[in-house]
Amino acid sequence: MDGTGDETLRLWQEFTVSYRYPVVFTRQAFSPGNRALADLLGNAGTPAAVFPVADAGVMAADPALAERLGAYASRHPGSLRLLAPVQVLPGGEKSKDGPGQVERLHRLFLKHRLCRHSVVLAMGGGAFLDVVGYAASTAHRGIRLLRMPTTTLSQNDAGVGVKNGYNSFGRKNWVGTFVPPFAVLNDFQFLGTLPERHLRSGMAEAVKVAVIKDADFFRFLFAQRARLATFCRAEVEEMVVRCAGIHLAHIAAGDPFESGSARPLDFGHWAAHAIEDWCQGDILHGEAVAAGIALDCLYAAEIGLVSPPVMERVIALLRDLGFLLAVPALRCIDLQEALDRFRQHLGGRLAVTLPTGIGSSREVDRIDLPLLQRCRERLMLSRREEDDEESSHGRRTAGT
Ligand SMILES: NC(=O)c1ccc[n+]([C@@H]2O[C@H](COP(=O)([O-])OP(=O)(O)OC[C@H]3O[C@@H](n4cnc5c(N)ncnc54)[C@H](O)[C@@H]3O)[C@@H](O)[C@H]2O)c1
Ligand SMILES: [Zn+2]
Repeated sequence: MDGTGDETLRLWQEFTVSYRYPVVFTRQAFSPGNRALADLLGNAGTPAAVFPVADAGVMAADPALAERLGAYASRHPGSLRLLAPVQVLPGGEKSKDGPGQVERLHRLFLKHRLCRHSVVLAMGGGAFLDVVGYAASTAHRGIRLLRMPTTTLSQNDAGVGVKNGYNSFGRKNWVGTFVPPFAVLNDFQFLGTLPERHLRSGMAEAVKVAVIKDADFFRFLFAQRARLATFCRAEVEEMVVRCAGIHLAHIAAGDPFESGSARPLDFGHWAAHAIEDWCQGDILHGEAVAAGIALDCLYAAEIGLVSPPVMERVIALLRDLGFLLAVPALRCIDLQEALDRFRQHLGGRLAVTLPTGIGSSREVDRIDLPLLQRCRERLMLSRREEDDEESSHGRRTAGT
């Protein structure tokens, strides 16, 4: 604008926002003497205005929960004030399909006059928390969210991170936001009512982070696999705490809002997402992830990234935890299309995380499709072995 013919003017805007939120582990969070929740909410000097919402599956398993929360609020009036009784909404993957649940939540927030200073207290599995998180992050451009995850998968992965969203156009998590929670409170008591299949599902995410990030954690999982497979409380709780910690460290150290292409935490997930889409709710996220990890480990061994014994150890751990890896849907998915979708999801450049040993990984930007297809065949050939195992252990087959 100086008469030299250059008509471009550039102003710069720059600021940094730092995030910090606590992830607390406890047992019986609503027992009157437990101060964990009151301490998370009561820091501002005035009681937090709390709007509690719960996954219907959690409430069905523990109908007295609403009453306990009411009594807890009465006992800690300086820390929290309930804006309404617990609102119960559907949970599970179907509740995440389309915008219906988000609209329901927005109407409830409006009706109960939530503002940016209110706290949405969400109790539920990963799917429920994803949708409530999205609704909270978009109402008033962001209402504070306190997550109380109720499944192993949400306590050790989905509930502790920064992603919210729901499925749209037949694609997992197509609509979503990156908004960190106000706090996370993991109450191990919830795991007491969780069906075994769901208890196991979350262990796949633990194997995932152990294989690519933490050899010591892998050794723990391998050594304790028999106790984990029978859901022994101490080992399950240690698994949850360590896995959540690794996820948190990764988010903080890396690329929290995923602006790059690399997504190490999506190890095993490109195939898992395709399997889940194919199964339309008949397979759990962790069950699909276990199959995805097995496929990627077989491929990593074929291209010489990991030695066959390492690959076999990972597969043995998944099987011993009770996962059925040769899921029928794996045979049906179009591997090229699944990789293409994953490439789109990443923003255009393919970056598939593969292990290079136990506790380390690298990204590859090309996949040899015929070789991958052969790995799939190999995995599917192990189906008979798994069927024999299943009938001797009485396990349920994942996926149809
Ligand atoms: N946001 C993220 O970063 C992230 C990461 C990983 C996975 N996820 C998402 O998490 C979802 C899977 O979550 P999930 O494995 O927790 O399953 P889920 O949310 O589907 O819940 C499983 C089922 O268990 C019920 N349930 C939940 N807690 C219970 C309890 N304590 N007792 C009895 N029943 C209970 C639910 O009603 C539901 O029917 C997927 O949609 C996945 O995409 C999100
Ligand atoms: Zn996952």
